[in-house]
Amino acid sequence: MKVGFYQFSPVFGEPQKNLETIAAQLLKCDADLVVLPELAFSGYLFIEKKEVFTLSEAIPGAISNKLKEIAIKKDMAIVTGFAELAGDKVYNSALLVTPEGNINIYRKNHLFHEEKLFFEPGDSGFPVFTVKGVKIGILVCFDHFFPEAARSLALQGAQVICHPSNLVIPQKAQITTRARSIENKIFWILANRTGSEIRGEKKFTYSGLSQISDPEGRIMVQAGEFEEGFFAVDINPELAKNKSITPLCSLFEDRRTDIYLL
Ligand code: ACM
Repeated sequence: MKVGFYQFSPVFGEPQKNLETIAAQLLKCDADLVVLPELAFSGYLFIEKKEVFTLSEAIPGAISNKLKEIAIKKDMAIVTGFAELAGDKVYNSALLVTPEGNINIYRKNHLFHEEKLFFEPGDSGFPVFTVKGVKIGILVCFDHFFPEAARSLALQGAQVICHPSNLVIPQKAQITTRARSIENKIFWILANRTGSEIRGEKKFTYSGLSQISDPEGRIMVQAGEFEEGFFAVDINPELAKNKSITPLCSLFEDRRTDIYLL
């Protein structure tokens, strides 16, 4: 299976322009699964709740329709962060479009900082999906700080975690996601953005360095801090089914759920 990510710098408040940029890139990609950053169409740095409503989109909508068309045409799964309008609520969600054109949603469970002012916390649990016979889970950015999130997906059989992100605390997720790969023996596609956003008095700089790690925690490919582009590697998802550390030790069978404080 060939998997990749597209690291770029979405323009705040320009969903149509960002959709055009993303669509042009996706049409050039050769991969089975491509992951895009968090909130890839709206941008991240909201200052007012009403912006969140204006820049969010219900499913189906222009974004999901376009991605569905590309996924079918390219026989490719696409995972992207987006601001999801659902009735009178907005979620910081991720969308998975399968190569068959089916649409699935994950709603970010751990909201970061002022996201709590703008979004509802996730209410979709930790669902696992199947893409070309491979089980995949989705987490969004700050979720990486919570080992229980990745473990919940891995225990359900997820072999690959897709992780749309807008990382603002540098050099943490590049470490935690490798650790999550090791402790669950899974592949991890961290798709971060790059660039800065300035909104009024607020400024965020996004740290790039998107990467893919293997079940041993090794980095298979990594983008630069400021680099924009599509990066991909071939993975063998079957490797993520073996949870042995030694012939006598299994990461899942050796868990002591009888004594954990969870
Ligand atoms: C983050 O969760 N966007 C830091």
